[in-house]
Amino acid sequence: MRLALLGASGRIGSHVLSWALTSGHEVTVLARNPGSLAGNPGLQAGSAGLTVIEGGATDASAVAEAVAGADAVLSALGPRGAKTPALLATAARAIVAAMDKAGTRRLIDVSAAGAFIQGDPDTSAVIKFILPRVLAKPFADVREMEAVIAASDLDWTLVRATRLVDTAGTGHYRVRPDFPPIGGGKIARPDVAHFMAAALSDGSWMRARPAMAY
Ligand SMILES: NC(=O)c1ccc[n+]([C@@H]2O[C@H](COP(=O)([O-])OP(=O)(O)OC[C@H]3O[C@@H](n4cnc5c(N)ncnc54)[C@H](OP(=O)(O)O)[C@@H]3O)[C@@H](O)[C@H]2O)c1
Repeated sequence: MRLALLGASGRIGSHVLSWALTSGHEVTVLARNPGSLAGNPGLQAGSAGLTVIEGGATDASAVAEAVAGADAVLSALGPRGAKTPALLATAARAIVAAMDKAGTRRLIDVSAAGAFIQGDPDTSAVIKFILPRVLAKPFADVREMEAVIAASDLDWTLVRATRLVDTAGTGHYRVRPDFPPIGGGKIARPDVAHFMAAALSDGSWMRARPAMAY
């Protein structure tokens, strides 16, 4: 497939890029700093399949250039602190517009389960009180991003990760629609990438919000 990938230099995105190249996909990456992709393990196997567009995810024309001709779009963007306010929602608007223009339908985007904790019937009142206050701004951005994507006609999957950890991937995790599996509170970044690859490959979780945890 021809894939467009945003956030390829990040801790989830680097695993997505590695998987895509070693699986023989053609990948167009949008990166602010192309040098940040150096050292990705997938480059040895499939660097011939990689095209890098230099630009930011809030730049609609750069996003459109990366998405043009893609069969599917994968996004593992993360705000890297508060350097780009409303990064996720702004990028989502650019991605949806670019996909509409290109006629690309499939979008798989990393989201955050914590941003929707208030509606989770299985989370304690204490966590519901604390978490939304501590992470008010990033969570508002995540909710706006989801709203933008869900309002589109695209075949989207919003992957609601629980707390991200940097342990090795296992390929074994639980997934539940909308809210985390009961008792599950964390997921390793490589396993988020693993799930994104699986959802792309088997066309599962269309117009759905799978929440992942161990
Ligand atoms: N932290 C958690 O526990 C948690 C829990 C659930 C969900 N999440 C979600 O997980 C995601 C973060 O995943 P991660 O930890 O893998 O991210 P990460 O390692 O921080 O990587 C973020 C990626 O986004 C890119 N990026 C940031 N701003 C950009 C911009 N303006 N233009 C283009 N690219 C930009 C970065 O590129 P550069 O290399 O150029 O900076 C990098 O590739 C977020 O969406 C967050 O909501 C986090």
